[in-house]
Amino acid sequence: MLNRKLSRRGALKAGAVTTGLIGGVGLAAPLLGPTAEADVTGVVGPAVTPMFAVPLTVPQVLQPTSTSSTTDYYSVTMQKAVKEIIPGLQTEVETYNGQYPGPTIKARSGRRVVINQTNALDLPTSVHLHGAEVPVDSDGNPMVTIPPGGSKTYTYPNNQLGAPLWFHDHAHHLESEHVYRGLSGMYQLSDDNDRCQPLPSGQYDVPLLLRDVNIDSTGKLVYTMGDFTNRTTILVNGRPWPYFQVAARQYRFRILNSSNLRFFVLALSDGGSFTQIGSDGGLLATPCTTNQLKLSPGERADIVIDFSRYPVGTQLVLLNNTGPGPADLIGKVMRFDVVRDALDLSYVPDTLRTLPTPPIATVNRTFVLRMDEDGRANPMAYINDLTYDPNRIDTQITWGTTEVWTITNANVRAPHNFHVHLVQFRILERNGKAPDPSESGLKDTVALLAGETVKIQLTFDSYRGVYLYHCHLFDHGAMGMMGTMQIS
Ligand code: C2O
Ligand code: CU
Ligand code: CU
Repeated sequence: MLNRKLSRRGALKAGAVTTGLIGGVGLAAPLLGPTAEADVTGVVGPAVTPMFAVPLTVPQVLQPTSTSSTTDYYSVTMQKAVKEIIPGLQTEVETYNGQYPGPTIKARSGRRVVINQTNALDLPTSVHLHGAEVPVDSDGNPMVTIPPGGSKTYTYPNNQLGAPLWFHDHAHHLESEHVYRGLSGMYQLSDDNDRCQPLPSGQYDVPLLLRDVNIDSTGKLVYTMGDFTNRTTILVNGRPWPYFQVAARQYRFRILNSSNLRFFVLALSDGGSFTQIGSDGGLLATPCTTNQLKLSPGERADIVIDFSRYPVGTQLVLLNNTGPGPADLIGKVMRFDVVRDALDLSYVPDTLRTLPTPPIATVNRTFVLRMDEDGRANPMAYINDLTYDPNRIDTQITWGTTEVWTITNANVRAPHNFHVHLVQFRILERNGKAPDPSESGLKDTVALLAGETVKIQLTFDSYRGVYLYHCHLFDHGAMGMMGTMQIS
């Protein structure tokens, strides 16, 4: 018994420690078997999860508790809940309103959202609306937390263009584990231009929140800081490797990589193309056709997949073509089963929107991201050689200015990314070249593989106060890769 268990764990581990790209298209699909047993010997291995055995579910849309002519009011309680994530196992998670992942909030540009958040967990929390322009007291600063038993009201003016925002925990040194355990949800902000698009809508407009977790054979969600090898169960909307029955028509998928550390390079198993229509800050100016989609932690993408080219009966796997981890686990995300025909009047227009013209930049700055990767016991992570200090202002910004930031990942192995609170920026260059079309829209998070340099342009013309920028690999942020900026 013990030997069998250990050897299965050993086999999983042996395949686990790879970095860089793995071959994904055309992988064999060995199911590991439907059992997940507690180990009577006390050695607890990973849960064994059947693939494509549970249907995709979609997070509920949160209903306001009241509305006025200008504002929607919501009330949310952060609380523990027990969910069946792996069939047959009970897993304790941390939730917004008992839902895993959190409910979706739908908001409109120009219409305020006010959320009363109550913390019924046993540690402090802080709620951040990622990608949003919000006054500083509602930004979810790591140091402005809600104590257990307390509550706080967050006000979101929504004076910005429509965008796929998301909310998640940001309490200092706790955010990484809190988000891992479930404290994240989508916040779909739409503007007038979004609402008159002929794109797929209703049941054909589907959010996909991706994340990886390590669940052991007793159902426990195991969190170890910086663990990029054992989080080998891929969840979509909180379900492990789900299947989704689709009609042979176009679907819009709003995808969020809510993982702590994992990058995704998504592709269809037949290599088929799809159309990217949006990124972090909303719709692109024009759609772009591609057959792969890269998403680092915190990034979002809107895509349209046209299933009308597949006969009913086709099964397509959404692959993840990057490691680390065993390809037979992390190389797959979910399966689309084409089960019926359907009428489709939707289409992707040639022009999606006009992006705002960036003003002339007058200030240049450089940021160097680096983490200890020499195997030392307590690795730290730095921006410009400093770890996060909430009492220090790293960057002083004059309100109204437009700046160009050059950001470099100085590591030789570790990937990072860079997220800025408060602003949607533009990517000017990646490694000296114009960015791909997928990165040509508004962005709030940009990936930086080892050795890469990006130049971004940002305008600080909304709120004043102290905000953050950081690596959005949450574990790295908790290791210090976070800085402060004061706009005044
Ligand atoms: Cu989504 Cu400060 O982060
Ligand atoms: Cu943010
Ligand atoms: Cu990082």
